[in-house]
Amino acid sequence: MDFVYDVRASRVVFGTGRIQQVPDEVELLGAEQVLLIAGGRAKTYADELAAALGSRVVDRISEVVMHVPTALATAAAERTEQSGADLLVCLGGGSAIGLAKAVALRTRLPILAIPTTYAGSEMTPIWGLTDGGRKTTGRDRTVLPATVVYDPALTTSLPTDISAASGMNALAHLVEGLYAPDASPVTAVLAEEGIRALADALPRVARAPADLDARTCALYGAWLAGWVVGTAGMGLHHKICHVLGGAYNLPHAGTHSAVLPFVTAYNASAAPAAMARAARALGAQDPARALWELAERIGAPTSLAQVGMDPGRIPEAARLVVETPVTNPRPVDEAAVDKLLRAAYAGILART
Ligand SMILES: NC(=O)c1ccc[n+]([C@@H]2O[C@H](COP(=O)([O-])OP(=O)(O)OC[C@H]3O[C@@H](n4cnc5c(N)ncnc54)[C@H](O)[C@@H]3O)[C@@H](O)[C@H]2O)c1
Repeated sequence: MDFVYDVRASRVVFGTGRIQQVPDEVELLGAEQVLLIAGGRAKTYADELAAALGSRVVDRISEVVMHVPTALATAAAERTEQSGADLLVCLGGGSAIGLAKAVALRTRLPILAIPTTYAGSEMTPIWGLTDGGRKTTGRDRTVLPATVVYDPALTTSLPTDISAASGMNALAHLVEGLYAPDASPVTAVLAEEGIRALADALPRVARAPADLDARTCALYGAWLAGWVVGTAGMGLHHKICHVLGGAYNLPHAGTHSAVLPFVTAYNASAAPAAMARAARALGAQDPARALWELAERIGAPTSLAQVGMDPGRIPEAARLVVETPVTNPRPVDEAAVDKLLRAAYAGILART
């Protein structure tokens, strides 16, 4: 056994109806002036939250864009500085949380996050910004939310296709966390638990999106997924998805869903202990095939063609993936990534 365990914890408040507790949590953080970030379809929840926080809300930002364009982040940070806020409260998916992180990176303000998808960003010190078709990510403990409030009731309105793709995004954090550079015995145990929770919950969510028990189980898995990716780190899978998202603006969660089985298959022979855990958690012999079948069953993308990848860009994408070193259990080169992306584009997993 050989590992480094280095964890900064967030306060996590989990349960149906916990959204009501946000004003108390704001007080616990000693904050008086809140800047609320929430866009798109989370608006109704954000309106209710703003009403509950009352005069403590000094400004609201509702323009939220996937992969956080740098110009948007700069404008949001300037607006935050002008507002005099002493706390960022963000409600929504990874895009809203990502914008709050970009603002925190510049303003050093603490974050209270209320996630409504399974992306997991709320549990990580990882920020991401996109400029000129390149996505840059980095780690900074300032952007790790001080408090995270998970309320499964907020996720019942998440459409089934987004739920499915987002759930596969969480599974990607967990599966890659099993062999990522900073994996440890603790991350391995929690990754396995998270995979089990999501593999159980996602088909139930697909069948009955308003099933609060299934939603609770899925959000629990997503919490573990966020913690695992933030703690254990990332490998080839996340590198590929960051390149495809940044360069071609492919949908974040759907891209994870389409790529995950193919990277899992690629790494299978080089990470046997990780694969044994993944297989056990998925209740299957072959984790790559089980992930592909799960995605298909719940209606998540199973090919890059489905998420709008242009096959003519595959050689360029392969070059971009290996442009900087990738830490991965199986060595990576341009030809191998090209082949992997072609298989993922077609959505055809080789029989093992
Ligand atoms: N830094 C990290 O650690 C990290 C981890 C994961 C994802 N991310 C980032 O997060 C972004 C993707 O996040 P995402 O997949 O959650 O997508 P997203 O935040 O864009 O949300 C997807 C869609 O779901 C809608 N939605 C969200 N909550 C809803 C709800 N409760 N009801 C109805 N609709 C709802 C949104 O309005 C949006 O249309 C990417 O930019 C990605 O890079 C970052």
